[in-house]
Amino acid sequence: MNTQVNLAGIKMKNPVTVASGTFGYGREFSQFFDLSKLGGIITKGTSLKPKSGNKPSRVCETASGMLNSIGLQNPGVEYFAENDLPFLRKFDTAVIVNACGSSVEEYVELCKILNTLDIDGVELNLSCPNVKAGCMAFGNTYEGVKLVTSAVRKVLDKPLIVKLTPNVTDIASIAKAVEDAGADGVSLINTLLGMKIDIDKKKPVLANNTGGLSGPAIKPVAVRMVYQVSKAVNIPILGMGGIINGDDAIEFMLAGATAISIGAGNFMDPFTSINTVKGIENYLEKYKIKDVNDIIGKVEMN
Ligand SMILES: Cc1cc2nc3c(=O)[nH]c(=O)nc-3n(C[C@H](O)[C@H](O)[C@H](O)COP(=O)(O)O)c2cc1C
Repeated sequence: MNTQVNLAGIKMKNPVTVASGTFGYGREFSQFFDLSKLGGIITKGTSLKPKSGNKPSRVCETASGMLNSIGLQNPGVEYFAENDLPFLRKFDTAVIVNACGSSVEEYVELCKILNTLDIDGVELNLSCPNVKAGCMAFGNTYEGVKLVTSAVRKVLDKPLIVKLTPNVTDIASIAKAVEDAGADGVSLINTLLGMKIDIDKKKPVLANNTGGLSGPAIKPVAVRMVYQVSKAVNIPILGMGGIINGDDAIEFMLAGATAISIGAGNFMDPFTSINTVKGIENYLEKYKIKDVNDIIGKVEMN
């Protein structure tokens, strides 16, 4: 059976990637399994300069999910290029860098550097809800998305995938902005803005007050959005939001995703991603489907 997919020009041995911010730069998970088994690795959100992120508490559990307000803590692109990229390149898997910035200029400067590195593509993060400037501030309007994506497109020759926030009214129109600006693919969803209150302290649990909700709790929202976006654009979709097994992954692919990412599921069980690869294969076997590409967008609406 064929499990290879082509996501926006990035050839992957299977459709399973790990979502930005939930897999670091791969070192910790490499102690559990061979990273070459993954279709691709999406790095932690990486910026032009190092960022210390928000103050703790930055994560908490919720029903069927979690809230985080990490605030894009990362060592910066120079450190990544010198230390993390050579490590990731030891494995036979696609390396996609999640890129974040607080201004158009910063996104452009960062992508100029990324363009010179040995990476397979860029996932442009226009969707982080946990930082004051940039990111979701650009990602929640058609104009903002088009502005940053077009500026980056001019300096980036590598595959460009733009990651969308679900915290909008009309996800299809935002995805259209990505396509109109010349990106090669779109990825969704990032986290849903949420809040948890400690009723004894009468204060929010997260120091940032609000955070991004992820995990199985958000899956139906994500599947719905992937479906809507697949009907609105012709570029491929990297789908995510609550995937923890092969059946979940198949749901996203039927809805229109070419590949998928596992996020919070990596924290529940470090083997979630490779078990998902097996789960997809089991489904293909069960229904005697020879090529995984044959299920993309094949949901039949009632
Ligand atoms: C702790 C944590 C950190 C995250 N950091 C990033 C990040 O740096 N960049 C980004 O685009 N998304 C980030 N995300 C969002 C995930 O990549 C993913 O879009 C989201 O969690 C939904 O998928 P899931 O429900 O499988 O976790 C983060 C999520 C979590 C839980």
